[in-house]
Amino acid sequence: MTKIAIIGAGPCGLSMLRSFEQAEIKGEKIPEIVCFDKQDDWGGLWNYSWRTGSDQYGDPVPNSMYRYLWSNGPKECLEFADYSFDEHFGKPIPSFPPREVLYDYILGRVKKGNLKDKVKFNTTVTNVAYKKNNFELTYRNKKDDSISKDNFDYVVVSTGHFSVPFIPEYPGMKSFPGRIMHSHDFRDAEEFRDKNVVVLGSSYSAEDVALQCHKYGAKSVTIGYRHNPMGFKWPKGMKEVYHLDRLEGNKAIFKDGHEQATDAVILCTGYLHHFPFISEDLKLKTNNRLYPPKLYKGVVWQNNHKLMYLGMQDQFHTFNMFDCQAWFARDVIMGKIKIPNDSEIETDINKWVSMEEKLENPDQMIDFQTEYTKELHSLSDYPKIDFELIRKHFKEWEHHKVENIMTYRNKSFSSPVTGSLGPVHHTPWETAMDDSLKVFLDQKK
Ligand SMILES: Cc1cc2nc3c(=O)[nH]c(=O)nc-3n(C[C@H](O)[C@H](O)[C@H](O)COP(=O)(O)OP(=O)(O)OC[C@H]3O[C@@H](n4cnc5c(N)ncnc54)[C@H](O)[C@@H]3O)c2cc1C
Ligand SMILES: NC(=O)c1ccc[n+]([C@@H]2O[C@H](COP(=O)([O-])OP(=O)(O)OC[C@H]3O[C@@H](n4cnc5c(N)ncnc54)[C@H](OP(=O)(O)O)[C@@H]3O)[C@@H](O)[C@H]2O)c1
Repeated sequence: MTKIAIIGAGPCGLSMLRSFEQAEIKGEKIPEIVCFDKQDDWGGLWNYSWRTGSDQYGDPVPNSMYRYLWSNGPKECLEFADYSFDEHFGKPIPSFPPREVLYDYILGRVKKGNLKDKVKFNTTVTNVAYKKNNFELTYRNKKDDSISKDNFDYVVVSTGHFSVPFIPEYPGMKSFPGRIMHSHDFRDAEEFRDKNVVVLGSSYSAEDVALQCHKYGAKSVTIGYRHNPMGFKWPKGMKEVYHLDRLEGNKAIFKDGHEQATDAVILCTGYLHHFPFISEDLKLKTNNRLYPPKLYKGVVWQNNHKLMYLGMQDQFHTFNMFDCQAWFARDVIMGKIKIPNDSEIETDINKWVSMEEKLENPDQMIDFQTEYTKELHSLSDYPKIDFELIRKHFKEWEHHKVENIMTYRNKSFSSPVTGSLGPVHHTPWETAMDDSLKVFLDQKK
């Protein structure tokens, strides 16, 4: 019997498990599956942890999510085709849920069957090597510190790529009297109430961590971009300036001459694709981009078609794109999709990579990832979902952000699965301080 290893039980690993479950329900014979996760429960980044640094076993904490994190895109754009929000919550809910609500939704789909039995928790895969036509996996049970080995026909890497922070150094950091941290370790904006905060970066973490600090009462927030400013209309108390040059004492000095007294510097400088557990010949090496090279259809490792990577792209589309990837990977593993010859693979990868290299703005990037996801969708029996509506929603969302970065999360979108419209939330995001599931779902009739 074919045996497959899934490394990681975050959203991508769960998509993989779900895809096999659906095939089995249809009466197909599925492979033996073992899923590994080094955390003590499933859900990946969505399984919030208060911990930073090391866990109780001495391993780095993979979690990067923080208290008060709300979805930064409309939930309708990430909805599962086979499990709608309406089905999970029993009613339409607003379009920008907080983390706990999305976590509940992700788990709702996988909780009902026996998928959890397939996951070895508190188990870190420490080595993957290809030997004699199969993969030898070495893994460590963190609880009893024991090492085991097992062989698999296929390996699916779904370990995420927003867990290992990229931490640059700027002059003056060593003698800076305040706090310096990466967004990976950011947990609670309350810590920065009444403080002057400098945030470095110009992508989603910089945008949202800066907004969080402002929302929870920071005295000032100064964002230092390196290449392109985000350029939103920031509220009073926030500004965006050009690139940090150095810190002098408690002063941040920027390359445009701007100076700002600061209590804390938060590095929102992104993450590394980091796979220390995979042998060199199998290791994906890439920065955060929409089409990492060497992956056929963004999934199958070019030099060994029995190795798959899920979710390694920079992401506009998330959960339903992960599903399309998982359904595709499943069908490759089950022999329903045939992998073409090396030259066709090369041509296909080059086609996508060269299109990606020409992208100039967010609308084009949304189009690119929508086309990619639609193509994958067409290759398997992943249920019907309206990706054209999702494309439209993403573009509208981008424009809402440009109109007003403080209010874009108050907007409503319609479901690409059920068609229902998300109701307006009872409290605007800016003043909604309690983001618990209970309060969020307590919508007035
Ligand atoms: C701060 C932050 C906010 C985000 N907010 C949103 C959002 O609002 N909406 C959205 O759609 N997306 C958001 N994302 C994007 C996020 O990447 C995806 O939503 C999703 O979590 C990716 O799923 P994944 O399974 O690829 O990775 P992860 O969620 O990172 O899960 C990977 C899993 O693999 C496990 N693992 C890793 N290495 C090993 C190993 N060697 N052995 C065993 N297990 C291992 C980890 O423990 C983890 O459980 C956010 C990301 C970040 C960092
Ligand atoms: N739900 C939410 O609200 C929420 C919140 C946070 C994050 N997220 C998600 O988290 C994921 C990761 O986002 P991310 O912003 O952490 O990573 P990212 O998108 O990869 O962006 C990394 C940023 O770091 C900057 N950078 C890198 N090195 C730098 C340096 N030396 N000095 C200054 N800036 C530097 C880059 O700027 P250059 O362009 O100059 O290279 C870029 O702006 C995304 O999927 C996002 O959607 C979601």
